[in-house]
Amino acid sequence: MPRTDTKTNYVCSECDTRFPRWEGRCSRCGAWNALNEFSEPRNKAAASGSGAMIGDGREQLHPYSMIEPIELSQVQVDTSKRLSTGIKEFDRVLGGGAVVGSVLLLSGEPGVGKSTLLLQAAASVAARDGTVLYISGEESADQVRMRAGRLGISGDRILLLNTDDVDAIMARIDILKPGLVLVDSIQTVIAPDIPGSAGSVSQVRECARRLTVRAKSSGIPLILAGHVTKDGSIAGPRVLEHTVDVVLQLSGDGSGSLRTLHGIKNRYGHTNEVGVFEMGSKGLTEVTDPSKSLLTDHSLRPDPAPGSAIAAVIEGTRPLIVEVQALTAPVGGQTARRVATGIDLARLNQVVAVLARRVGLPLASQDVIVSVTGGMRLTEPAADLPVALAIASSLLDVAVNPGLAAAGEIGLSGELRPVPQADRRRSEAERLGFHGCLLPLISEGHSKSISGNGASGTEARIGLATLAEAVRAALPRDRDGVHYAGSRVTVEPGV
Ligand code: TYD
Ligand code: MG
Repeated sequence: MPRTDTKTNYVCSECDTRFPRWEGRCSRCGAWNALNEFSEPRNKAAASGSGAMIGDGREQLHPYSMIEPIELSQVQVDTSKRLSTGIKEFDRVLGGGAVVGSVLLLSGEPGVGKSTLLLQAAASVAARDGTVLYISGEESADQVRMRAGRLGISGDRILLLNTDDVDAIMARIDILKPGLVLVDSIQTVIAPDIPGSAGSVSQVRECARRLTVRAKSSGIPLILAGHVTKDGSIAGPRVLEHTVDVVLQLSGDGSGSLRTLHGIKNRYGHTNEVGVFEMGSKGLTEVTDPSKSLLTDHSLRPDPAPGSAIAAVIEGTRPLIVEVQALTAPVGGQTARRVATGIDLARLNQVVAVLARRVGLPLASQDVIVSVTGGMRLTEPAADLPVALAIASSLLDVAVNPGLAAAGEIGLSGELRPVPQADRRRSEAERLGFHGCLLPLISEGHSKSISGNGASGTEARIGLATLAEAVRAALPRDRDGVHYAGSRVTVEPGV
């Protein structure tokens, strides 16, 4: 008989590596204090080993031989059966709605609006597609009722279950067979037979696993709300990423009312779509013209401040015009700090290195902080160029020529690589009142890819070949073409 006691491992919440004992620092990814206790039944491990035979005789069949393999061509996949959440921006990020039997994790910091979005989705599904089971372990029934009242939701066909017991939830799913199940939040659900308190890695993982099995067997889509802290560590997407089918992140722009919904993982669609909402007195409303909302009045000013550049990116299927801000300051500590909000830190490091080596900007002795306004996260390499321009603008203390947007991927040798859909970027920028968009050199077939003042040439050019050229085109210079106006920094004449 296999032993039924549990064994304890430690799991890094950053990179998901397991360790037999606790360590202060994960030796794989280097994260400090990221190891969490994780217990699982010992017999589970034993059962999956090759020793689990019926009886001792060789003639006995392995119990798993009862599970029939299926020819790949015969496997039925139906991702066309999707349940629309009734919220366009939510469906857009999902790739058209929640696939039946799929499990979605809606992650975000506390207070960002996860419960609000879930309740609004519940209301529209209940109005069209049947009963919604809303499990609230976090708020009492009257708190949920009060929120519903504020959102103008009657609550018909939304069944509220106030429990934290995962088995009770599964039993209720079996009895009710609802059209959609919402669990708010996965950190409050507990499996009584598993050690650890609610919200611990072992509990969160096991509860999500059981609920996932139930979603798959019943064909009911399941949405789990999950809290993440600012560094995304506590039982957040990382711990559940492997278990669930879709991970979405709802982010806010600090004190503002804009909320963006990004895909982090999606087994049934792309992760590059972004949904944009505004939190108001009646909950989350969809933002139909995100570029307009993401741009502050500041970004359209005729005299923009140094350290700001406008990015023309394509996130998913739609073009977006957003402001990138950068601040450079002489190194405060022992080493230069690089801080990225809304873009990948590795990407920022690369852009800084290219600006230093290929454009000659003295960035080694500068802290560099980059942030994308509106809480947006830019995943497209085309964001490289506006990031570089914002940094150069801050360092040289001259504003980017007003009315210019930019898009372009930067290569290691300082070259600009073409970006797809240049025309759409330019026309989106023009629609919003910009008069041009700096774009990389494109081979034949395109005309007028660059427009705007400050370019060194006089005739219409077909884009920019290098980052150095782009810096020269974007930032106004003294007549000698070497010293930047208002700045004591001299850029190498050769670049
Ligand atoms: P909530 O959905 O409870 O966040 P989460 O579940 O992610 O913790 O949203 C909480 C915040 O949203 C709270 O600060 C109040 C605000 N809010 C509004 O501004 N308008 C509304 O209509 C609602 C319901 C909430
Ligand atoms: Mg909540």
